[in-house]
Amino acid sequence: MADHQVICWDCGAAVDDPYVNTCPRCGGLLSVKMDLEPVKEMSPQDLRKEAIGVWRYAPFMPADPLRKVSIQEGGTPLYKTCRLAEEIGISSAHVKFEGLNPTGSFKDRGMTIGVSHAKELGAKVVGCASTGNTSASLAAYAAKADMKCAVFLPSGKVAAGKLAQALFYGAKVLSVDGNFDEALELVRKMADERKLYLLNSINPYRPEGQKSVMFEIMDQLDYEIPDRIILPVGNAGNISAVHKALQELTEVGWIDRMPMLTGIQAEGAAPITRAFSAGKEDFIPEDEPETIATAIRIGNPVSGRKALRAIYETKGTSVTVTDAEIISAQQLLGRKEGVCVEPASAASIAGLRKLVSMGEIDRDERVVCICTGNGLKDPDTIIKNSSAPIPCRNSVEDAERILFG
Ligand code: F0G
Repeated sequence: MADHQVICWDCGAAVDDPYVNTCPRCGGLLSVKMDLEPVKEMSPQDLRKEAIGVWRYAPFMPADPLRKVSIQEGGTPLYKTCRLAEEIGISSAHVKFEGLNPTGSFKDRGMTIGVSHAKELGAKVVGCASTGNTSASLAAYAAKADMKCAVFLPSGKVAAGKLAQALFYGAKVLSVDGNFDEALELVRKMADERKLYLLNSINPYRPEGQKSVMFEIMDQLDYEIPDRIILPVGNAGNISAVHKALQELTEVGWIDRMPMLTGIQAEGAAPITRAFSAGKEDFIPEDEPETIATAIRIGNPVSGRKALRAIYETKGTSVTVTDAEIISAQQLLGRKEGVCVEPASAASIAGLRKLVSMGEIDRDERVVCICTGNGLKDPDTIIKNSSAPIPCRNSVEDAERILFG
């Protein structure tokens, strides 16, 4: 396993207790400091002996590949989306489709590392709060690792497919009377009392796996650095992980500049965009976040300060999109490219469209949108926003009347 140390992202202190999720000294956010000296002797080519996926990048990961808990996560397609680009008015665009992970979202990247680490620690019960995808992923990896799993979900606000997955993989599903932020507070109390091992992205091992999406994008582009990466922001773990991947690629000398990290939030749940617009390094939590993109219906993102730093340091930006813009972008991606993503994931496409129309992205920028989850996770939203199936009698005449009449 690659050498590493957990440190405080705020004060830099070394943190030895594997069960804490914030710095015992200053209360700050935790981070993993990888020893990348061995990687400096390598080239991206050296890693290509392993199949593309999270574990190809094991020298950047704080978990032992020989004892991994894996369901073959990562290795998702990077589509060149020409028809989408044309419609939006730019010369090219790529979409990294994370919906093709084992449980249908990018969360599997973090979970393979997080659950592998939990297993190394000997954890018996793992848990998380979730807007849906984290719980689906944790439930699957806990099943694979033979651990008990408890997931804390905001009552009535989790898309049907995600809820079905958590139930299906055998997790104990708690429907919490409150929103995601409140469910997270509750599960964090349980973790502080050591009743379970927490696998939300405040656990510093989770984002380590999530770095791999950036490693893969670079691999798939043959190390031609894109100008911009656009991704949806909810609890802000993913954008922070992508930033950390870029910092590590810089440290080992595999890239010499960073793409502009561009975080998209839903208008009704946008503490990061608001802080960015005000030029602030910290955000003001929102009490009642609301959006059709339930995956990012979050008002108090735990990694919010890391996300803001990621955006500032890469000279990126952050904008909000409305629910109507999200649905329209979701349909556009489906109808131009044959790719079905969930609403939160379509926020990145909606954000691209908005930034192009605002003149913030110019025609020749090379943009990668990360589409974080599969559209089948939330069939209700798709059906609600599509025209209804047309009743048809069992006759050619009636079918013709409907199709050509
Ligand atoms: N897209 C999807 C599909 C998500 O499920 C999430 C987060 C995000 C984007 C935002 O990522 O939180 O790292 O900024 N889902 C979490 C969950 C909160 O519980 O499944 P983030």
